[in-house]
Amino acid sequence: MTVIEAVRWSPSGDAVRIIDQRLLPGAYVERDLRTVDEVCDAIRTLAVRGAPAIGICGAMGLVAAVRGHAVSTPHDFRQELRRAAARIREARPTAVNLAWGIDRMLRCAESANGSNAELLEKLTGEATAILDEDRAMCEAIGEVGATLLADGARVLTHCNAGALATGGIGTALAPVYIATRRGRRVVVYADETRPLMQGSRLTAWELQRAGIPVTVIADNMAASLMALGAIDIVLVGADRIAANGDVANKIGTYGVAVLAQYHGIPFYVAAPSSTIDVATPTGRDIVIEQRGREEVLHPFGTETAPFGVAVCNPAFDVTPAALVTGIVTDRGVVRGPYDFGAGWGGGSG
Ligand code: MRU
Repeated sequence: MTVIEAVRWSPSGDAVRIIDQRLLPGAYVERDLRTVDEVCDAIRTLAVRGAPAIGICGAMGLVAAVRGHAVSTPHDFRQELRRAAARIREARPTAVNLAWGIDRMLRCAESANGSNAELLEKLTGEATAILDEDRAMCEAIGEVGATLLADGARVLTHCNAGALATGGIGTALAPVYIATRRGRRVVVYADETRPLMQGSRLTAWELQRAGIPVTVIADNMAASLMALGAIDIVLVGADRIAANGDVANKIGTYGVAVLAQYHGIPFYVAAPSSTIDVATPTGRDIVIEQRGREEVLHPFGTETAPFGVAVCNPAFDVTPAALVTGIVTDRGVVRGPYDFGAGWGGGSG
């Protein structure tokens, strides 16, 4: 089973290497990011995407982007670091992991003394730790979540919360990878996930590549499959989980949760602790990213609505905690009533 690496250091160590997910599944292209503009652009345009992956890319990208400024005075270097951090932090608002990753890098810088070279080395270590920790959390989520998957399980997922979205084997797809490694037969139904098709383009691509049976469905087919008894469990990822267990995830997740409840199908959210935001009390406090009209009007260069028509394009929705059967974390499955406190998560502070 081959699992890809969505974000890593380039071989020379001076850039963040990502897989350009805008081009999948048609072309596999890797890109090296070295400047703040390149990092922000890659995150904003979804060349790199998925909450944990953008947190990792933000942290590593910050190091790559300031590397060229290490020749300036320590004062100027630190100023450049703060400037770059502020820009990268704002690239996407909903996934808490991005702000969390950047804030962690800034805290690391604040605690460091010494030369620019020493600071750079410390920051490189911190960014690498964020990547390594995420990889380990994905494995742990996989171990925990695999206990929910019996042999023959039919899993519905939405968007892509797999290896492409993290530093490891994914969150929602991690249990699928681990159960498969253990010899269980698990099949996945992937919602195509309009408007940018992360399900059909990315989830289907990475599972097919890993040899795991996957069937793509248009988003409006999920209800019918559930009614036919073809789905045993729903597993999705998360961009931010509020302290009360409300979950922000890709637009359409809420609808799937409502359907799952109606049909009596367990609905699980899988996420690392870094996605739990104890500083956000409820889902109503989560900022939902609004994206450009062109993604709905002519995705991938094909006109799908008449020119000039009004468009609404929220990238995420919030699933109320009451619809969530359990949250599969690296520390175990948490069940409601949810009350994530100080011991949890990275938060954004
Ligand atoms: O807009 P995207 O593609 O970044 O949205 C991604 C999702 O909604 C994922 O489900 C979420 O980030 C979890 S990824 C492990």
